[in-house]
Amino acid sequence: MKVDIIGGGPGGLYFAILAKKAWPAMRITVYERNRADDTFGFGVVFSDETLETFEQYDLESYRAITANFAYWDDIEIHFKGTVHRIGGNGFCGCARVTLLKLLHERARQLGVELKFQTEVDPAAPRDADVVVAADGINSRIRAQHADVFRPETDLRPNKFAWMGSTRPFDAFTFFFRETEHGIFIAHCYQYEPGQSTWVMETDPETFARAGLDKLDEQQSATFLEGVFAKELAGHKLTVNRSLWRNFPTIRCEKWTHDNIVLIGDAKATAHFSIGSGTKLAMEDAIALFNAFKATGDAAGKSAQPAETRSYVKRALAHYETERRLEVEKTQHSADVSLVWFEHVRRFWDMDPRRFAFGLMTRSKAITYDNLALRAPEFVSEIDKVVADDVRRQGFDVDVVKPTVPMFQPFRLRGMTLANRMVVSPMDQYSAVDGMPTDWHLVHLGSRATGGAGLVFTEMVCVSADARITLGCTGLYTDAQEAAYKRIADFIHGNSAAKFCLQLGHAGRKGATRLMWEGMDQPLPEGAWPVISASPIPYYPNSQVPREMTRADMDKVVADFVQAAERGQRAGFDMLELHCAHGYLLASFISPLTNKRGDEYGGSLENRLRFPLEVFRALRKAWADEKPMSVRISATDWEEGGLTGDDAVRVARAFAEAGADLIDVSTGQTTPDAEPIYGRMFQLPFSDQIRNDAGIATMCVGAITSADQVNTIIAAGRADLVALARPHLVDPFFTMKAAAWYGATDIHCPPQYLPGRDQIFRNSVRDRADLTELKLKAKPKGHAAVWKQAAE
Ligand SMILES: Cc1cc2nc3c(=O)[nH]c(=O)nc-3n(C[C@H](O)[C@H](O)[C@H](O)COP(=O)(O)OP(=O)(O)OC[C@H]3O[C@@H](n4cnc5c(N)ncnc54)[C@H](O)[C@@H]3O)c2cc1C
Ligand SMILES: Cc1cc2nc3c(=O)[nH]c(=O)nc-3n(C[C@H](O)[C@H](O)[C@H](O)COP(=O)(O)O)c2cc1C
Repeated sequence: MKVDIIGGGPGGLYFAILAKKAWPAMRITVYERNRADDTFGFGVVFSDETLETFEQYDLESYRAITANFAYWDDIEIHFKGTVHRIGGNGFCGCARVTLLKLLHERARQLGVELKFQTEVDPAAPRDADVVVAADGINSRIRAQHADVFRPETDLRPNKFAWMGSTRPFDAFTFFFRETEHGIFIAHCYQYEPGQSTWVMETDPETFARAGLDKLDEQQSATFLEGVFAKELAGHKLTVNRSLWRNFPTIRCEKWTHDNIVLIGDAKATAHFSIGSGTKLAMEDAIALFNAFKATGDAAGKSAQPAETRSYVKRALAHYETERRLEVEKTQHSADVSLVWFEHVRRFWDMDPRRFAFGLMTRSKAITYDNLALRAPEFVSEIDKVVADDVRRQGFDVDVVKPTVPMFQPFRLRGMTLANRMVVSPMDQYSAVDGMPTDWHLVHLGSRATGGAGLVFTEMVCVSADARITLGCTGLYTDAQEAAYKRIADFIHGNSAAKFCLQLGHAGRKGATRLMWEGMDQPLPEGAWPVISASPIPYYPNSQVPREMTRADMDKVVADFVQAAERGQRAGFDMLELHCAHGYLLASFISPLTNKRGDEYGGSLENRLRFPLEVFRALRKAWADEKPMSVRISATDWEEGGLTGDDAVRVARAFAEAGADLIDVSTGQTTPDAEPIYGRMFQLPFSDQIRNDAGIATMCVGAITSADQVNTIIAAGRADLVALARPHLVDPFFTMKAAAWYGATDIHCPPQYLPGRDQIFRNSVRDRADLTELKLKAKPKGHAAVWKQAAE
């Protein structure tokens, strides 16, 4: 087989090495436009995990890499005169030129042909069986076949430039500096003795105010020497094609076309703040090599061209299917990470310890538990930060040996919650004529006894025609009020949980089927007329709602108020107004569903008018000492719909009207939305509202572990954390978490005390076992090995 590799970066070279080693008869040529010793950039970094992978695939290059790299274990964060050093990270770095040289040497030794100073024309025909396009971020091959690869570039707003310095480092170091122009960030690491990389980053406004657009490379370096004078400690900044750029996040719909395959930056990029560009390129090379291996023996494929073509096609398809998820996951982490740096101002006023914790946990890979293993003192400090905050709220909590963040109390008006765990509202579709049944009593009662600080009802409908389905509960008759009072009394009599009533109106999603019979699908018979902000059906086959008149609005306000009054009498501790998920009030807020020409449509201010009117009427009817929250869809996940920035304005408007907490959900406005799912995927919106608008938030969505809850609370990204689906299968989620973290104060009904004692006892042992297992599974720490060898 003949293989042409376009681009002699780490991706192209590493594939050449692996393939040539496995199949020496393969004719492999690497074409590179630069000279062998040319390079841009300064150093590259790998983690211990990545090095372990390299060790498995090519021992020789692994040895060469590990002999030439500098190692460190710590991350250091310099912020407002404080320094936090967090160990156990396991990184190594070397000069990019060194890495390339040792890969050249290894490739040559195996018989790969390296052609330098050779620009490949992507349009020229090639006689190779496989063309590996490893031609980097500006890939001409990708551009040549853009109609097939369908690349998308998301040019990020921040400006960055790679620079270097002779300033030594013994940790991966972040410097944050505020100047008269704005904030500058330096991401720094040493890659060989006396040489360090400095990736400089700033937001576009600061960039413009500082006049950096008018400065050349050297002038920019001189300016930054002023900004980071203290940090550079007398060292100069060096430049090497250190132009200011905007980072392009590149994604391609397809990575293969006939016999052409994209690898490395050519196919997808990941922001430099997670240090994964070179790693991704080399791991792509491994994945491509594995795809050929899994498809058959590449060595014997030269005789029959048709057979070779089919073999190559299958191998490339295999690469694309096997590799995509991993790359997308890394890109997602990188996206979350870059957003943190883009919004650093949001965290600027935080306690420096909390700021450092937020930075460490920004991309979700590192969590509270994970840090507690490798940097226990740092995590103890974080526990103290949270406890101090809680003490400032007037709670008499232990600040010397505080409990973990999720078991810290919280107050909203006159209501005190014992912990930060919330059972999210979940419709049970089990009502009869709007009446909650024994199912609701058992369901809500058991979740309350399970230890959560706050338990929500499902969306309780304010009138019969406000119901989503025939299985939804309501609060518009005396019998319903009595049935809810029975549940509230049970919860208050048997648990420490507080009970929140969520009131809503289905709007255009009303008169639909039970969840398990076809969610949001219209009732086949017995449907009642539905109303909405505008006469737009949810699905093409849904009922067309009637556009609400002012008379309808008056009736709806009155229905909400009477339901709140019933809720008050039933003994609820808190009231939530449901303005999310495309139901009636949400349909006013989103521009996708509100096309009205009157004062209730158009601008966001107008679209909020009716939901705010309902809220104000409720606030008046609801006892002053009892809190109120509003659930919103912070984004519609659709072009032209609500965005996170709009959500901040929506949250502010409700807060001004007296809302104490914003319950931050997203989407479900239209069926065309394209949410980006993932662990804790809605959390960034809670973060944005809490820290931009300074309003208490509750977050929700794909949060499944107590570790995540602690991470969220400690980082200050939400005040309360709601779990829905995990609570469906585990009412005792909170009790178990309390046992795990030794939070002995948790309330337990006396009937269950023996079970509680047992789980608290066993958890101590289980936790010790797991810690030991995790420590054993940690990749080999190269920093320690390196230090030993050096000594
Ligand atoms: C300015 C800059 C500085 C960087 N510095 C660092 C750093 O210090 N540390 C780090 O970890 N990451 C750095 N990165 C990111 C990192 O370089 C990439 O993520 C990684 O190198 C990707 O590897 P690759 O093999 O896919 O592509 P590259 O390493 O980009 O290699 C592609 C190669 O293809 C060659 N090429 C392109 N087109 C043709 C053609 N038509 N004909 C012949 N040859 C061609 C290029 O000359 C290049 O050598 C930097 C990126 C940029 C843009
Ligand atoms: C069965 C079920 C019913 C739900 N009913 C409601 C509801 O009545 N009101 C509401 O605001 N959200 C409702 N939700 C949404 C949840 O409160 C929550 O926002 C969502 O499930 C994401 O959280 P999770 O990933 O923890 O499940 C429901 C979710 C589920 C799974």
